[in-house]
Amino acid sequence: MKILAFETSCDDTAVALVENGHNILANITASQTEIHQKYGGVVPEIAARNHINIIIQLIDEAIKKSNYHLKDIDAFAATAFHGLSGSLLIGMMTAKTLSYIYSKPFIGINHIEAHIYANFIENKNLPIPHICLTVSGGHTILVVFKGHNNYQVIGQTVDDAAGEAFDKLSQYLQLGYPGGPIIDKLAKNGNPEKYKLPRPMIKKNNFLFSFSGLKTATLNLIKNLKHNNENYKIEDIAASFQKAVVDTLVTKTIKAAKKYNIKTITLSGGVAANSMLREEFQTECIKNNINFFYPQIKYCTDNAVMVGTLAYYKLKNGYTSKLDTNVIANTLL
Ligand code: KG4
Ligand code: ZN
Repeated sequence: MKILAFETSCDDTAVALVENGHNILANITASQTEIHQKYGGVVPEIAARNHINIIIQLIDEAIKKSNYHLKDIDAFAATAFHGLSGSLLIGMMTAKTLSYIYSKPFIGINHIEAHIYANFIENKNLPIPHICLTVSGGHTILVVFKGHNNYQVIGQTVDDAAGEAFDKLSQYLQLGYPGGPIIDKLAKNGNPEKYKLPRPMIKKNNFLFSFSGLKTATLNLIKNLKHNNENYKIEDIAASFQKAVVDTLVTKTIKAAKKYNIKTITLSGGVAANSMLREEFQTECIKNNINFFYPQIKYCTDNAVMVGTLAYYKLKNGYTSKLDTNVIANTLL
């Protein structure tokens, strides 16, 4: 079962050819980061136009790399739900058109669900049930994965997503876009205990998250330091901010695993690439006798392999999408 998969929900144009859900025959991502960097964030119209410019070239590259032909592909899949509408439309229409021409199934994919499946790419035997924390630029969501196509959303953010908070802090400090990797790198040379920043909702007896207040508290801290002419290291601010985000995410996820009596935690989404988050999860999971899995960094951030892997499981379970499927910009699972 060879699936040609597309992911164009935001500013990366990604095409992958995945065989039987796990064998990666091609995986190509064209990043638009440089284009959007000068605006301090993704400009939707520009993102969509750049997907159009490059997507056919990426299909050619993927197909050549695999030594197959488009007529050999068994199904076409694309992210259709959750993301920038204009961007989603490009990948989805490309997949639908190929599906129509070659009379093969089309599978419309939910972006959050695809991130969750990034953990299955290299691990066919991922334990089920597990708790998956998906943290990216657009979402912070805690899910009990009970089986394929059987999830329970137990928590999410009430305001900013975790990655959004990283990006906004970086934008304020004029450090660049995307902010997560930049702050992660700076934090390595900073003291995470230097400034005591809030851990929003950490003590609440639910699995909701909130990062807007933490972002504001960090911006106020910087303003006060500047106002009082105090010397400060940007690395200490980055480390203290990152530690507050990480503590909150880890504490709540471990609490969820205990409450639901689940012995496996998985991590996904762009923020799952964060070094401190991975380390702290690892340490806490060992302490609490919980298995911990996370994808390689290239499968944490947006990629088309996770779309191909999820599409394989969907197809195996008899699920396909109609050719009149439309994109949905904002949806959960
Ligand atoms: O999953 P993703 O590529 O796209 C969305 O679906 O949003 O995630 C992008 C987000 C951005 O907010 C970026 O700053 C964040 O992931 N990110 C990180 C790191 N690498 C990417 N955040 C913290 N630490 C990182 N190393
Ligand atoms: Zn994503």
